[in-house]
Amino acid sequence: MDRKKCCVQLSVHPSRGLMDEKFIVLVQKVLPGCQLTVHALHQCEDGNSWEAFGHYTTDASGTVNVSQDTSLGGTYSGVEAMGLLWSLRPVPGSKPGLRLRKKNVQTPMEVTISVYQGHQTEGFVDQVPLASVLVERWYMAPGVRRIPITEEGLTATLFLPAGPGPFPGVLDLWGGGGQLVEYRAALLASHGFASLALDYLTCKITLETGKMVDNQYFETAYRVLQQHPQVLGSRIAMLALSLGTSITLRMAVNSQVIKLRCAVCIGGSHVQPSDGSVKEILTYFNRNGSKTRFSEKNEVIWRDLLLPITTDPSFKVDMGRLQCPLMLVVGEDDQNWAAYDSAMDIKEMMERAGNSHLLTILSYPKTGHLIEPPYTPHFRASIFRKADTHEKIMVLWGGQTVEHSHAQEDAWKKMLVFLRENLYGGTNPGATLLSHL
Ligand SMILES: *[C@@H]1O[C@H](CO)[C@@H](O)[C@H](O)[C@H]1NC(C)=O
Ligand SMILES: *[C@@H]1O[C@H](CO)[C@@H](O)[C@H](O)[C@H]1NC(C)=O
Repeated sequence: MDRKKCCVQLSVHPSRGLMDEKFIVLVQKVLPGCQLTVHALHQCEDGNSWEAFGHYTTDASGTVNVSQDTSLGGTYSGVEAMGLLWSLRPVPGSKPGLRLRKKNVQTPMEVTISVYQGHQTEGFVDQVPLASVLVERWYMAPGVRRIPITEEGLTATLFLPAGPGPFPGVLDLWGGGGQLVEYRAALLASHGFASLALDYLTCKITLETGKMVDNQYFETAYRVLQQHPQVLGSRIAMLALSLGTSITLRMAVNSQVIKLRCAVCIGGSHVQPSDGSVKEILTYFNRNGSKTRFSEKNEVIWRDLLLPITTDPSFKVDMGRLQCPLMLVVGEDDQNWAAYDSAMDIKEMMERAGNSHLLTILSYPKTGHLIEPPYTPHFRASIFRKADTHEKIMVLWGGQTVEHSHAQEDAWKKMLVFLRENLYGGTNPGATLLSHL
């Protein structure tokens, strides 16, 4: 081994951090003007491997600082501090349609950052890197508690922030794929919100009885969260994506039980039978099944199912009656749901009713349906298993990787500020809470 090789120094700070935290990758003690590839490798829980890499040239001091230097090529280019994470993609030869989602949030996502000589694009496994560092990325901050909830027939997990509490609460809903998806709730708890991840499609009751849950199920979840001794019962929000947004909007407006401080709704719609159950909502969506389109790669496009947005008020949540602040997060290239058109219609309804001061819309060009916490890789399409029929299909979500990734970063920051303002702000909830801001 030559001298240049053995002296290369690679550091990542922090090497253990939260999923939404930036890191600084620094390569030092290389000769000036050297070509290097900085590479990230992650093996996920189901055994699939993911990689990302950027091509760099060392500066006059023999250094590459990924946070401020330009990648000249690779899976991302330009100055992209976190490109090594958001541009992760399955290694060549992987099955098509994979999506990266952490199931066990009690262990970190482990990423090996390595530096290779030259500008490489393939065959990393066959090469010896100049240096490597193992990085841990966590959804659960130290001290966050994970509590499975089965009472009152719920399939849910509560995440409590570190510290004495009580904390404001967030009820967290995902979309049509079902499952108990915990990672976003875990990350919200890491930011000071007691967060309840709720499975409402593949939950225990449904698996046991074959029946879908009714609207009461969500009210029960709300009450369990509200009455928890560590939760401030008058400071509860809902946060949702996709089908979860349909449910959140309807509960926020119609429920006699659920009283929200605010709601954050990503990639969804208010179009639905105004007094239907989850099952009736799904049936209604499928009524225009013939409007399903397919991309040139044969990926399913569902965005037209609700278009044009109906003018019949009995098939829309009456947004004019909403009484809490609402943040809508929209990907303008959402190919799965008519999120943009719905947001515009919601805005119009609220303007007409005089409550549009409650509405904030974050709308992002070239951004798809799956707006996730920052640095989550972008999936333009992936295999989706319908919770009701168990059918496996390749679904087009939309978005362009760079724009989508930047949107995720921007949206998450703004969502956290919005939640903080509405859940921690206003009447003084007690001095102890300030320490969690
Ligand atoms: C690397 O770049 C970041 C962002 O510009 C900067 O904050 C940090 O100080 C740099 N580190 C070094 C050692 O130059
Ligand atoms: C189905 O499409 C028609 C127009 O073709 C539209 O008026 C109607 O609202 C759509 N149905 C649903 C469920 O959105």
